[in-house]
Amino acid sequence: MKLLHVVGARPNFMKVAPVIRAGQAGGYQQVLVHTGQHYDHAMSEAFFRDLDLPQPDINLEVGSGSHAVQTSGIMVAFEPVLQETAPDWILVYGDVNSTIACALVAAKAGIRIAHVEAGLRSRDRTMPEELNRLLTDQLADLCLTPSRDGDANLRAEGIPESRIQFVGNVMVDTLRHLLNRARDTRTPEKLGLAGGPYVFVTLHRPSNVDVQETLAELLAALDDLAADMPVIFPIHPRTKSRIQQFGLERLASRVRLVEPLGYLENIALVDRARLVLTDSGGLQEETTVLGIPCLTARPNTERPITVSEGTNRLVASTRTAVIEAVHQLLKVPLNGKALRVPEFWDGHAAERIIARLANES
Ligand code: UD1
Repeated sequence: MKLLHVVGARPNFMKVAPVIRAGQAGGYQQVLVHTGQHYDHAMSEAFFRDLDLPQPDINLEVGSGSHAVQTSGIMVAFEPVLQETAPDWILVYGDVNSTIACALVAAKAGIRIAHVEAGLRSRDRTMPEELNRLLTDQLADLCLTPSRDGDANLRAEGIPESRIQFVGNVMVDTLRHLLNRARDTRTPEKLGLAGGPYVFVTLHRPSNVDVQETLAELLAALDDLAADMPVIFPIHPRTKSRIQQFGLERLASRVRLVEPLGYLENIALVDRARLVLTDSGGLQEETTVLGIPCLTARPNTERPITVSEGTNRLVASTRTAVIEAVHQLLKVPLNGKALRVPEFWDGHAAERIIARLANES
């Protein structure tokens, strides 16, 4: 069985790593294609290094652009690669533009598609990721879900049971595999944060950072918080360029803005944070597993299990809502919420994926 994995953007890299490892253990032939959607060292290569990923066999080097430019560029570049490699399955990950672009090419070429992290729904079609998820699941021959709510969403959309497989969360495979190595980096100590509580922040969703008023509200909230405890904010390139474009640099002068960090450094900081404020998908899951309180600055989440079972809470993207939510959380001791890790977030999701693919062949 020959497997072709497609990755392109930062959150894909954590998801593919355990699946490649499980595929190697099974002795399968594997090809890794990087679309080049993310290309900066800090957004791509740093993750390959931290995750022990093999270098991509092929890099399509598509780069940034509007949705149509990026998605179509990936499709055009991927089609001949798919023809030449002729895999039995392509595996696509998550919900980024690379995911739908390559799934669509494979579907039309008659190559079987497995979608890892299928079934998640925010029910918010203004998010580009929601459109990518909906369409990829319609095309996939196998929808591999991280939680049972994903199965229910797929059934409700008419996907037959035979195409749905609950496997658990591959992001958590990576977290469990690398947590000790992350702790060994001693990143909080190196950044002078180990002595007391601090807040870890990431923000990059267009709905938060592309609208000047919203970004200004969030930065003002962070600056208020930074009066009480350190606020560390590794800044995504999209967010950085918006802050510059809107001239908001001085709004968050007390916040420690740093360049994007590698996987191990990020996890090391999250692991010791008093709380996390984010709009990332992956961090909602990682904080749940680590038992760190998380505020997600969004009106919805495609990962509701992190709220119902984990440590996550949604908060509006306004200064007052964020400050109030943080103060409420700080009243609860760190281990105040009983930790319940969702079913199959156990470090073995990738093995279940490979087992199911082996069964299909
Ligand atoms: C993409 C994903 C999003 C994911 C995020 C993680 C889609 C639709 N969105 O959003 O789901 O949460 O990745 O990071 O696929 N840029 C650089 N260097 C890079 C990459 C991007 O400077 O290596 C800048 C460019 O100016 C680019 C902008 O960031 O235009 C946005 O990049 P893009 O890949 O379009 O979307 P993200 O916001 O990163």
